[in-house]
Amino acid sequence: MTATKGLEGIVAATTSVSSIVDGVLTYRGYDIDDLADHATFEEVIYLLWYGKLPSHSELIQLKAELSASAAVPAPVIDILKLVPRNTTPMAVLRTAVSSLAIYDPEAEDMSPEANYRKAARLQAQIPTIVAAYARLRNQDDPISPKEGASIAENFLYMLTGSEPDAVAIKALDKALVLHADHELNASTFASRVTVATLSDIYSGVTSAIGTLKGPLHGGANEGVMAMLEEIGSIDQIDDYVRGKLERREKLMGFGHRVYKGGDPRAKHLQRMSYELGKRTENLKWYDMSVKIEGLVFGLKGLRPNVDFYSASVYTILGIPRDLFTPIFAISRCSGWTAHILEQYENNRIIRPRAEYVGKADQKYVPVDYR
Ligand code: SDX
Repeated sequence: MTATKGLEGIVAATTSVSSIVDGVLTYRGYDIDDLADHATFEEVIYLLWYGKLPSHSELIQLKAELSASAAVPAPVIDILKLVPRNTTPMAVLRTAVSSLAIYDPEAEDMSPEANYRKAARLQAQIPTIVAAYARLRNQDDPISPKEGASIAENFLYMLTGSEPDAVAIKALDKALVLHADHELNASTFASRVTVATLSDIYSGVTSAIGTLKGPLHGGANEGVMAMLEEIGSIDQIDDYVRGKLERREKLMGFGHRVYKGGDPRAKHLQRMSYELGKRTENLKWYDMSVKIEGLVFGLKGLRPNVDFYSASVYTILGIPRDLFTPIFAISRCSGWTAHILEQYENNRIIRPRAEYVGKADQKYVPVDYR
């Protein structure tokens, strides 16, 4: 038995939710370029959960269900009020999502109908939790979700208290489409391993949030913005990038376990970064990002992944840096729950083997003789 480090190239499951083949990403057979250009996040949620794009009435019903479920149980808001103000939002989200289960009477109901209802509650309540904590840590009261608003619109509204403009709503909605699912990435794999023991959907999503938090996965978008701010200006890029590479340090937002010819999502986020930057006459982060991209490709042959340009997109939208990964979680909750529902449908406990490389033939020695 020989271990494959990081399970690279190991096919660990079958799925109909999404695929990455030859650099092409599809959700339920629809190309991400097609969905990014035409679909709303709510349409993508329906597509991931039910395997088809919704009819007009199905979309209205899903939006009504999400809107009706967006309020968070009061005790969970109380938990957010208790959290020390400087707690990392992803750690708060991990705790809050876990506590949602305590106040959901259906938490342990494993029927498919209850699991779909819980998936909708999780998808609707995670944005509310993220926005509520962002305000509470600034001593501002949380703002209740608006009836009938999309997830993108409601998140921006709950974050700021003011009506977001249509361009910002559209940009965030497209970013949510682009981050919704991605085959068997680490956090989705974690969610499937968790629920494959027939543990509940809240446990599965909590596992996924803890996994996404890491800087090598969802946390990279915050790392990209930290890098841009640390570099400070375009003339400092060359020394910074060369120094990082010489010290064999990872540059956040570059590289990918699966994509070697480039992440198809990056071009959409790059275009959004440019358009938003141009509109706000603030192309600094975009210009720096383009220069970094060219230099890293030239020096290391690495291309940007989904996290690289999303950093400047969220910054120009006025979103605080430490909310970037929670936004990733808002979007990926749709993918995680789709994979969890799929795992429950045709389940077998996920239990691989390990190659033992430790000591052998050890004999017990009484403590007085050690
Ligand atoms: C996401 O899996 C998914 O689908 C994830 C995701 C999704 O939608 O769910 O796409 C979202 O997580 C995107 C990735 C976000 N993470 C980062 O941007 C962090 C920086 N990237 C790296 O840590 C890395 O590229 C990974 C984690 C993305 C992939 O890691 P691998 O496949 O284990 O690659 P590796 O670390 O073995 O690197 C292979 C080589 C090494 O060089 P050598 O030692 O062989 O000379 O490439 C180098 C690495 O040093 N390398 C990098 C690098 N990424 C790879 N060098 C500098 N900077 C980088 N970012």
